[in-house]
Amino acid sequence: MSGKPFTSRRPVTTTTIRAMKRKGQKITMLTCYDATFARLLDRAGVDLLLVGDSLGMVIQGHNSTIPVTMDEMIYHCRSVARGRGEGRAHIVGDMPFGSYQANADDAVRNAGRLLKEGCAESVKLEGGERVADIVHRMTAAGIPVMGHLGLTPQSVHQLGGWRVQGKTAAAAEKLVQDARALEDAGCYSLVLETVPAEVARQVTEAVSIPTIGIGAGVQCDGQVLVIYDLLGLNPDFSPKFLKRYASMGLDVLGACESYCAEVRDKSFPTAEHSY
Ligand code: KIV
Repeated sequence: MSGKPFTSRRPVTTTTIRAMKRKGQKITMLTCYDATFARLLDRAGVDLLLVGDSLGMVIQGHNSTIPVTMDEMIYHCRSVARGRGEGRAHIVGDMPFGSYQANADDAVRNAGRLLKEGCAESVKLEGGERVADIVHRMTAAGIPVMGHLGLTPQSVHQLGGWRVQGKTAAAAEKLVQDARALEDAGCYSLVLETVPAEVARQVTEAVSIPTIGIGAGVQCDGQVLVIYDLLGLNPDFSPKFLKRYASMGLDVLGACESYCAEVRDKSFPTAEHSY
């Protein structure tokens, strides 16, 4: 295992992602919802851009991901695809709540829309054994699928809140079974959200597809964060798993306060900013 950074500018594909686990190269994924961020994250060398249904919370202001619709996901996927352009990062489109749970026909049709209309290159959905048949139908139709286990936000009401999952031995064993079921159904990777680091290690060792963790410790094959959280855009959101790499929420506040002050005291615009 080399652990060398992945530096090729060749487009990242699902084959690349699987090979990275075999070679011991960590996978980087960030959420992305618009063209400007897609351009920046691709230039920064992020492997996977996840157009996550977290946009329901950070863009739309809902208190869960449940209200997000297919048309909204397609709109954001297209924006990200235009921004990424001929770049390197692989675009993953999230299947919103209600778009795949009822039956495999719905799932194939809606995932097809994310690929055809949204220009996503693979899709992500939540759940383990209970969605394995659906995943199988999707992968048989040529649609690459990323799974999502642990704290699955679309089930927040069933889970009783935003809690750490897999804490008992039985729950940890069930996560391993779910991960194997997703691998057997054809998933090329899976997200592990908010589970103890030791459980994430067991899941990661139990499957040959890469695991991408959020709040799941360092033993996962890769990591994902919500880009607004990483940038510190919401100074009031600080769960244990989050590392902020910037304090942009405070920067935005400061910049906008300065702008307002300068407009009011007529120090902006100056001659330099006038025609
Ligand atoms: O929607 C999302 O942003 C996600 C990540 C948190 C994994 O599913």
